[in-house]
Amino acid sequence: MAKMWAGRTSGITDSIADDFNSSIHFDYKMYKSDILGSIAHAAMLSKQGIIAESDSEIIINELEKILNELENGSLEFDMQSEDIHMFIEQELTARVGDVGKKLHTARSRNDQVALDIRMHLRTEINEISDLVKALIGAIVNKAEMYKDAIMPGYTHLQRAQPVTFGHHLMAYAFMLLRDLERLADTKKRMNLSPIGCCALAGTTYNTDRYFEAEKLGFDGIVLNSLDGVSDRDFCAELISNLAILMMHLSRFSEEIILWSSWEFKFIELSDNYTTGSSIMPQKKNPDMAELVRGKTGRVYGDLMSILTVLKGLPLAYNKDMQEDKECIFDAVDTVKMCLKVFEPMINTMAVCTDNMLLAASKGFINATDLADYLVKKDLPFRTAYKISGEIVAYCIKENKILETLSLQEYKQFSFLFENDIYTQIDLKACAQKRISEGGTSVESVEKQIDFVRKAVLND
Ligand code: ARG
Repeated sequence: MAKMWAGRTSGITDSIADDFNSSIHFDYKMYKSDILGSIAHAAMLSKQGIIAESDSEIIINELEKILNELENGSLEFDMQSEDIHMFIEQELTARVGDVGKKLHTARSRNDQVALDIRMHLRTEINEISDLVKALIGAIVNKAEMYKDAIMPGYTHLQRAQPVTFGHHLMAYAFMLLRDLERLADTKKRMNLSPIGCCALAGTTYNTDRYFEAEKLGFDGIVLNSLDGVSDRDFCAELISNLAILMMHLSRFSEEIILWSSWEFKFIELSDNYTTGSSIMPQKKNPDMAELVRGKTGRVYGDLMSILTVLKGLPLAYNKDMQEDKECIFDAVDTVKMCLKVFEPMINTMAVCTDNMLLAASKGFINATDLADYLVKKDLPFRTAYKISGEIVAYCIKENKILETLSLQEYKQFSFLFENDIYTQIDLKACAQKRISEGGTSVESVEKQIDFVRKAVLND
């Protein structure tokens, strides 16, 4: 069958070319945006006197029916169509005849597709943001439960200073809060309407772009028609936000994987979010976290795809741009899946506070507090640091820990040590003393929890 655009050419294409050219197998997802965009367009055309009111009514009525039928499954997508835009227009024209052919007045598929992606992605951003909020909620709840559970804080993956598990978790809550902000920021730039830019140069018809923009919930219009049809910055921006979000989930996954190992045993994931091995009966594997870590690579690949597709494209529309969709849809779907599994995985994980405390008591992570004790007795920090290091070396040699060293032994290193040293190096006290803004004390973690909860509510 000849294409709708037959005229300059026969419109008869080879089936291999058809398959190659066609995008309906992935852009069908944008059907709702496409139909809502067309309804607004038909309304604008009649308001401006470009088509008759009665024609516009017929078009809008039928488009609403098509939307309904697609939603309830009574109408199926025709995978032989070139793309979603052609499918809807063909369906409309098949049903209402020549009136349907008036819909495409004063528009092009170039501004139509640009409109559809923006509308589609802004809904996806809302969904992703809700999922991120739910995950932040789960993290913050856990942080509250474990705001005084002592664990070793690490640098270089070496035990460094005592922190609380609540404090550690809140670091991830803040990362995700920034992800939320980035998504909102991208949506702001994305939410400008390109419809009415037409093929590239605007149109001779007396259109009202602001009317269409407002009807479709945009904050304004794209002010340069060439830019309107060739801009996919918002896709690159969104995927880059999603790549950063995945990077955060991946770092968290890595810790969850480490913490679930017997070497750490800081947490135990629920059976519902782990798998067994087909050969080793003892295994309980953190597959969900590993998959999130793995899928991060996939989203990075999507980012590379969109950037490379756009690089070197002359203005305005080029068919290369059809390649924007698979990577953006893949990134969006992947992130949604990861967030959906992550939230209940965090919600249901058990925390082994005894093991955390045990690990915290083994790595001399109160050595900084030991030095600070001497500093408070007027010793310069560098001198205090050196003495504390020597005490640690002594402990390692004698197989002792700072808490079990006698006062007599302490005094061999400095006369400044008194009995109060033991309360100063108590792990809980060490964490509780870190009252500086953002520190690990319970009070500070409570402030952080409060801040994040309010920020999420106000988003
Ligand atoms: N399927 C196309 C895309 O996704 C729609 C735009 C086609 N425009 C054109 N002039 N061929 O980009």
